[in-house]
Amino acid sequence: MSKLLRIGVLASGGGTNLQAIIDRCQDGHLAAEIAVVITNNPGAGALDRAAKANIPTLCINHRDFSHREDFDNAVVSALQKAEVDLVVLAGFMRIITQTFIDAFPDRVINIHPALLPAFPGLHVQQQALDYGARFSGCTVHFVDGGVDTGPIIIQAVVPILPDDSADSLSARILEQEHCIYPQAIQLIAEDRVRVAGRQVVITPACPAEATALVNPATSLQ
Ligand code: GRF
Repeated sequence: MSKLLRIGVLASGGGTNLQAIIDRCQDGHLAAEIAVVITNNPGAGALDRAAKANIPTLCINHRDFSHREDFDNAVVSALQKAEVDLVVLAGFMRIITQTFIDAFPDRVINIHPALLPAFPGLHVQQQALDYGARFSGCTVHFVDGGVDTGPIIIQAVVPILPDDSADSLSARILEQEHCIYPQAIQLIAEDRVRVAGRQVVITPACPAEATALVNPATSLQ
């Protein structure tokens, strides 16, 4: 068996994406092992999920640091000590600094609950609703110096329905997040992913969905 990709997961909240990754590692669909789960939030549900799966956890509380850089250095040291190949941000509610990115070049990925480049930042499900968009979705991307601006690895499109609330839309998007995040990590584990400027090249290429999505549905196609 070839070597498993060692990943470090950073999470601040409930950790459903972490759970999806744990589940895929356990059922053999993901050739990775989670070396460590790090949180900045002592109350993060992600900690319980990791502990249940016997994954080492670490809480590095950002409130204990007066400078962002010092917090990032502590997190980077912990990730290096755990010898991770890939850093996976899964609902990590801190913006990471360039020092962090430089320590893991093209080795930090994030999931965002919108179809980037539309709606970067926070509360993006509500933003998509308020804007009147017909589709939203989720995006797995490499992390660069900006907020949700790095090269895109994979996206899933989710329709916005007339009666949607931010909660119902978030739930529909989250379901897709749990599919595409493990998928992106598996592609990296297979060493098929390269960053070329703004583009992410996957070799051999994955088949793409060839059918257009229309919302509201049309009978004119
Ligand atoms: C997800 O919606 C993710 O896209 C965003 O934060 C949320 C984390 O959810 N970055 P969970 O903690 O994985 O349940």
